[in-house]
Amino acid sequence: QENVPEKIDYVFKVVVIGDSAVGKTQILSRFTKNEFCFDSKSTIGVEFQTRTVPIKNKVIKAQIWDTAGQERYRAVTSAYYRGALGAMLVYDITKRQSFDHVARWVEELRAHADNSIVIMLIGNKADLEDLRAVPTEDAVEFAEDQGLFFAETSALSGDNVEKAFFKLLEEIY
Ligand code: GTP
Repeated sequence: QENVPEKIDYVFKVVVIGDSAVGKTQILSRFTKNEFCFDSKSTIGVEFQTRTVPIKNKVIKAQIWDTAGQERYRAVTSAYYRGALGAMLVYDITKRQSFDHVARWVEELRAHADNSIVIMLIGNKADLEDLRAVPTEDAVEFAEDQGLFFAETSALSGDNVEKAFFKLLEEIY
C-alpha cells in the first residue's frame, strides 16, 4: 500500500459481484492488501475493505464491498448497491456458466444500482489459460454491446488487478 497522506478528497463506493467462487474476495484482497489466500472461504454476508489511492491529483478512498455470490445469501441487494459508483462484475474464464450469468448480474445492477454506475466486466483466473472456457472475444463483444469496460485478471498472480481498479476509479472520477 502506498504512503498516501490521509487527506481524502473523495470516497468512492465500489461493489464486487458475480457468481460464487469466481474470485471476488481474492481480487479484493489482492487490490487492498496485495495478498492471495489459497484456502479462501466462501463469503457470508457483506464485508468491505478500503484502499486510498491517488487519481488525477486527488486522493480517492475506494471503499470496496464484497458479498457472497451464493443465491441463499442474497437478501441484501438494495442496501448493498445503494450509493455505489462502480461495480466489478466478475466471472471465471474457466467456468462458462459464470460468464453465461453475467447478463443476469447486469440486470440486477440496472434494477438496483444508480443509472450512472460504472461497470467493469472482469474475467478472472487468467492464469489458468489451459482451462479457458470463455474466449476473450466473447467477453469483449458482450462488454461492447452492454457498454461495460472489460479486463482479464488473475488474483493469483496479481496480473491486471491493479490496472482494472485504477481504470474503474478513473472512470468514476
Ligand atoms: P463467494 O464468496 O462464494 O461468492 O466466492 P468468491 O467469488 O469470493 O471467490 P473466492 O475469492 O473465495 O475464490 C474462490 C476460489 O478461486 C478460491 O479457491 C481461490 O483460491 C480461487 N481463485 C480466486 N482467484 C483466482 C485466480 O486468479 N486464479 C486461480 N487459479 N484461482 C483463483
